[in-house]
Amino acid sequence: SAVPELRIYEVGARDGLQNESKFVPTDIKIELIHKLAAAGIKNIESASFVSPKWVEQMSDGTEVMKNLKRTSGVNYPVLIPNLKGYETAKKCNIEEIAIFPAGSEGFSQKNLNCSVEEGLKRFKLVADQAVKDGIRVRGYVSCVLGCPYDGPISPKTIARITEELFSMGCYEVSLGDTIGVGTAGSVRKLMKEIVAVTTPDKLALHFHDTYGQGLSNLLAGLEFGIKTVDSSISGLGGCPFARGASGNLATEDLVYFLYGLGVNTNVDLVKLVEAGRYISNFLAKPPASKVNLALGDR
Ligand code: HMG
Ligand code: MG
Repeated sequence: SAVPELRIYEVGARDGLQNESKFVPTDIKIELIHKLAAAGIKNIESASFVSPKWVEQMSDGTEVMKNLKRTSGVNYPVLIPNLKGYETAKKCNIEEIAIFPAGSEGFSQKNLNCSVEEGLKRFKLVADQAVKDGIRVRGYVSCVLGCPYDGPISPKTIARITEELFSMGCYEVSLGDTIGVGTAGSVRKLMKEIVAVTTPDKLALHFHDTYGQGLSNLLAGLEFGIKTVDSSISGLGGCPFARGASGNLATEDLVYFLYGLGVNTNVDLVKLVEAGRYISNFLAKPPASKVNLALGDR
């Protein structure tokens, strides 16, 4: 069967940076977002409006969103934990938000300080308001292939939360392997359950690459007709509340991989590699992207 067109949803400026202990100045975050847009990335999650006591790194969401120069045709979603975050974000002219209930109780408590059900209730309040305001809502489910506190999670549980997110009005649900423990085998089992409740063109896959399984997991997901993939520039990232979570599947690796499958992403890999070098140099560490390392020094 033909390989579908794929939409890349870049999370480096949010998921990628949230785990960095040293504060990354606002102008560096903005420059990274500009470089990603210049490389041809069309969806760039740019900030989160979570509690600054929980994630200090993301405390400048307002400044980021107010000062970045938006390229027309580029989507700049932001991550929202509750109505308070939503109200702050709304003042920044946002067009899309992402809400993020957990797939497991243990992670829900650590990440959101509440149960899965309580989280879903809170996110429904946010989604209802956003829908009223004409703001697009994307949903994440985290820990879909395993939780650092509860272990394996039943695909049926993930399918139920996914359905709830769609019933709240989400246009897309991103299935997050928060700690990167999934394999092509567990991805297949999950996808079988999920495509029973929704069509694959409304799903995204969000792989952390902790065990180096990101691309093979993606290939397993593509067999089901997935249309959107989340990735992070130079494989930055992780979650401060998920022990052992490393960075996301690297965007450079993703673009190279898709090129090999004959999927035209309209991303300029050379510029992408430069964007990765820019932020990696700032963070004073090598890119966690093999493709970046292979191409970067030419
Ligand atoms: P809480 O402490 O239970 O909140 O945190 P609260 O409602 O009890 O309020 C306590 C204080 O925080 C109050 O201030 C609130 O005003 C303030 P005080 O009266 O004490 O001065 N507060 C806020 N301030 C600013 N913005 C806000 C906000 N909300 C409350 N939005 C809360 C609950 C959900 C807020 C907290 O747990 C939180 O911020 N969690 C988010 C943690 C996070 O960002 N995790 C990483 C992102 S998720 C992820 O990476 C996974 C993903 O990538 C998918 C995957 O990989 O699978 C998406
Ligand atoms: Mg993530």
